[in-house]
Amino acid sequence: MTGKIIGLGSYLPEKVLTNDDLSLLVETSDEWIQERTGIKKRHISDHKTETTSYMAGIAAQRAVEDAGIEGSDIDLIVAASTTPDVVFPSIACMVQKAIGAGEDCGCFDVNSACPGWIAAFLTAQSFIEAGRAKKVLVVGAETLSNYVDWTDRGTCILFGDGAGCAVLEASEGIPVSSIMRSSCERGDCLFCANMKQPDRLDDEEFIKTTSFQMAGRDVFRFAVTEVPKIIRDVLKKAQVPADEIDYFILHQANARIIEATAKKLKIGLDKFPMTLQETGNTSSASIPSLLSTMKKEGKLQRGQKLVIASFGGGLTWDAAYLEY
Ligand code: ACO
Repeated sequence: MTGKIIGLGSYLPEKVLTNDDLSLLVETSDEWIQERTGIKKRHISDHKTETTSYMAGIAAQRAVEDAGIEGSDIDLIVAASTTPDVVFPSIACMVQKAIGAGEDCGCFDVNSACPGWIAAFLTAQSFIEAGRAKKVLVVGAETLSNYVDWTDRGTCILFGDGAGCAVLEASEGIPVSSIMRSSCERGDCLFCANMKQPDRLDDEEFIKTTSFQMAGRDVFRFAVTEVPKIIRDVLKKAQVPADEIDYFILHQANARIIEATAKKLKIGLDKFPMTLQETGNTSSASIPSLLSTMKKEGKLQRGQKLVIASFGGGLTWDAAYLEY
């Protein structure tokens, strides 16, 4: 048995922050950001109304509708996020309420930074393969704008908010092939200590030291080295040649990282769809949101061979091969 994707949905906040808007906040320019990252704009949530769980709930409702099923058909919800609204209830529990799933639906969250959605997807696959679940929601949702230091031009230009969701259904077929890797030894280049403390939001020193910290060049080097390698390794494991893959669905962090990966794999860039121009890096929401956009654009067809791959804080980096 395997979990086939039968529905996809996404949500982006209404408010858009362009590169020109950012150049009013920090010393940067549209030209610099586009040249170094490919990003043109990102969506920023209204922190009071568009919380992580709210966005997750809407993306989930859209995915359930796209699948043509009812919320009550879902028997497991796994949500990935690094930026939940509260410590508990889990985002998955709040999604359960949003879609009207029953009390016989299991709910839990995973946190594996940007590859979190792949970790959640593989967890869901394991439940399905073991016969423990039949219809599973896999959600990725983030409000990274809450955790970014808006005076640091090295990081604030990169991130955006949003949510994406896939519905998996137990079906006959070959199980997904996957590889998960991590290295806390190398984790210092990406760090976020901010456990939101509302009474310290005016404390500049606290904000500076606990917000998203990143050594950009080190993360870049890590990504362009490890992502092509893990993709080659997962294809070897699946025994599928790279030139048979229809799409490489990569974490939408930086167009230069995606271009370097395509070059190292000797695969045309047309097989690496991108939405980061419009969304920035939405961490664990990036892969399900990209899949949802591709479906809306008519790019996904049954039987296509897909690779998904992501990297992020931990460090963690994962890849999977699946048939759509
Ligand atoms: N605007 C203008 N100049 C800038 C900006 C900016 N926004 N940011 C940095 N600079 C300057 C630097 O100060 C530096 O100036 P200097 O040469 O006078 O010292 C110069 O530009 C070059 O800086 P670099 O950091 O070397 O620039 P680089 O080409 O590496 O681009 C970037 C920086 C875009 C952050 C890149 O390193 C990157 O994308 N790294 C990967 C980051 C990433 O993907 N992180 C997310 C993974 S984890 C997750 O997804 C949650």
